[in-house]
Amino acid sequence: MPTNRQQILDNRPEGEAVAANFKLVSTETPPLQDNQVLVRHHFMSLDPYMRGRMNDAKSYAKPQPLGEVMQGGTAGEVVESRHPKFKPGDKVVGFGGWQEYSVVDASQPGSLKKVDTSRVPLSHYLGAVGMPGVTAWYGLVKIIQPKAGETMVVTAASGAVGSAFGALAKARGCRVVGIAGGLDKCAYVVGELGFDACIDYRQHADAKSMSAALKEACPDGIDGYFENVGGYIFDAVLMRTNAFARVALCGMIAGYDGQPLPLSNPALFLMNRIKLEGFIVSEHMDVWPEALAELGELVASGKLKPRESIAEGIESAPEAFLGLLKGRNFGKQLVKLA
Ligand SMILES: NC(=O)c1ccc[n+]([C@@H]2O[C@H](COP(=O)([O-])OP(=O)(O)OC[C@H]3O[C@@H](n4cnc5c(N)ncnc54)[C@H](OP(=O)(O)O)[C@@H]3O)[C@@H](O)[C@H]2O)c1
Repeated sequence: MPTNRQQILDNRPEGEAVAANFKLVSTETPPLQDNQVLVRHHFMSLDPYMRGRMNDAKSYAKPQPLGEVMQGGTAGEVVESRHPKFKPGDKVVGFGGWQEYSVVDASQPGSLKKVDTSRVPLSHYLGAVGMPGVTAWYGLVKIIQPKAGETMVVTAASGAVGSAFGALAKARGCRVVGIAGGLDKCAYVVGELGFDACIDYRQHADAKSMSAALKEACPDGIDGYFENVGGYIFDAVLMRTNAFARVALCGMIAGYDGQPLPLSNPALFLMNRIKLEGFIVSEHMDVWPEALAELGELVASGKLKPRESIAEGIESAPEAFLGLLKGRNFGKQLVKLA
């Protein structure tokens, strides 16, 4: 059985997460038991939610245990199988964690899923046609419930969730405005992803300036907001909302290292009769098949061209993860392992 290199959580962050929170170790993969499958990971997913799980704090999910392999989504290939439904060469996605191989009990429902890579590249099953894509779909379709002609705004617009949100909202006839960090990200959001406009928040460092930029980009006001970031951008968006606007509260990455995210004018929720709903995509497994079917078609037809930032090798995972929390990624952040 092959040697397996793994990244474990060695200690918890105090404030900002650092590379020394992780440790690279090596083990031998154990011989397979009945129903087990050995998967060689080709890609592992790095996601902002992992930062929350590094803390020993009460949340919607249990903390990542210390001394264990960092948990996370993976896409790869079966190399050995003692389960009748899987054979070597099958392309699969699972939750194999930050390691080169995983041994999976494939009899557990949802533990391993075969995917078709003839029209959608394997890596996209961790991004646009995976958890981040479904996240965008749920927030847009189930919470915001857009109507054609309405104006939608999304933060972290060039990222895994934001880019999928744009394509889904355009497909429903909306005006879509992104907010992203940097001119190159904004150029991609408009030029490649087909958003109607994109605002570089680095050029609008406070709520007043951002609100003025939103006024220009959203001349008819804002009907739907997909929140990924939090902070002054949220304040600025609220100032431009129309009556009966809907907010899908997906993430607040600006506060994941413990920064406070005050809201300066919550009375706007009342005055504009705004509906706000927070959600966790893994609690809505019932919508995944419908969402994945639409997202797969958008990618296969070239209507959604998701971008990826790919770090090489298991040793690069901590730095790539810390970069994701700082916006150094450009699109879905992955680590290539094979
Ligand atoms: N609720 C759920 O079930 C669920 C599921 C998946 C993801 N999420 C959330 O969705 C959001 C996007 O996730 P993703 O996987 O698509 O990541 P992503 O957008 O590909 O990468 C994260 C992006 O966040 C932006 N960012 C980081 N710090 C920021 C700050 N201080 N101010 C403004 N922007 C900042 C950066 O983009 P810029 O350079 O453009 O700033 C960075 O590229 C995250 O908040 C994540 O936690 C929630």
